[in-house]
Amino acid sequence: MNASLPATPLPPVIEVDNVTTAFGGHVIHRNLSLVVHRDEVVALIGGSGSGKTTLLRLLLGLEVPQAGSVKIFGHPLGRCSACDLEHVRYRWGVLFQNGALFSALSVFDNIALPLRELQSVPPDMVGPLVMLKLAQVGLKPDDAFKRPAELSGGMVKRVSLARALILDPQLLFLDEPTAGLDPDSAKQFVRLLRKLRQELGLTVVMVTHDVDTLFAVVDRVAVLADQRIIACGPLAEVARLPHPFVRNFFLGHAEHCAEDDVRRFRLSLDDTSEEGGVPAMLREDAL
Ligand SMILES: Nc1ncnc2c1ncn2[C@@H]1O[C@H](COP(=O)(O)OP(=O)(O)OP(=O)(O)O)[C@@H](O)[C@H]1O
Ligand SMILES: [Mg+2]
Repeated sequence: MNASLPATPLPPVIEVDNVTTAFGGHVIHRNLSLVVHRDEVVALIGGSGSGKTTLLRLLLGLEVPQAGSVKIFGHPLGRCSACDLEHVRYRWGVLFQNGALFSALSVFDNIALPLRELQSVPPDMVGPLVMLKLAQVGLKPDDAFKRPAELSGGMVKRVSLARALILDPQLLFLDEPTAGLDPDSAKQFVRLLRKLRQELGLTVVMVTHDVDTLFAVVDRVAVLADQRIIACGPLAEVARLPHPFVRNFFLGHAEHCAEDDVRRFRLSLDDTSEEGGVPAMLREDAL
């Protein structure tokens, strides 16, 4: 190889180009485009029913756009061979909006499912790998034998996350990972995401309406409104947009979105003391 030639740049992890999605005559996305680069954490925000979950489903190849294209790791979904699609599919993990655990299966079997389907490791490795992921998401070994109905909301999210991570994906999709959690559990979950992101070097696309989550982990924020991504950039930039949805979303928080404030907030999260986990600029007395 010629050492003087520059290395070919890696393609973006996700390229959505001019996509239109419709159900019957109901257009959800029109000329929607979005690019996500390696190692980024991108949050997708938008009103209820604006098409966030549908966009994730497009990225997973579960919906097919009427027009436009979606590429994941450079592979065009819908046009790559079944073999290519399988190859891409095992490079991502998904935490669905409702957790989507199988109620008849134990926590252990839920997490083990992708490994067993893929048969990528010898059967005697499944147990140790499942228990490792269980520990990684902060659950106890005994939790492995519970059924989903015996778990708290926070535990369901953790089990779903363990299942999403079991194949060691490079790309993680999270749909409302902290929705329905009490503030403490949400904070713990966000800390866990930060830790995993640092340890595993993941690219993450996360739907969230939780401002604390944006402050804690996100590199860029993509706003889905008016059927397309109207902006995608750092929190400090996006929070200043004059769009009505954005104004409402950041109501009372916009002035704290400056890069310095966000950095201070992230540092405060690393402090494990009681007070350290509270987002200083979001504490009631600070507003
Ligand atoms: N399979 C489907 N068939 C018909 N309509 C659908 C289908 N899936 C989603 N929709 C419609 O598409 C629109 C967007 O739905 P979607 O679930 O993507 O919204 P969302 O932004 O994720 O909302 P939320 O914040 O409430 O989760 C809604 O009007 C929904 O009814
Ligand atoms: Mg949704």
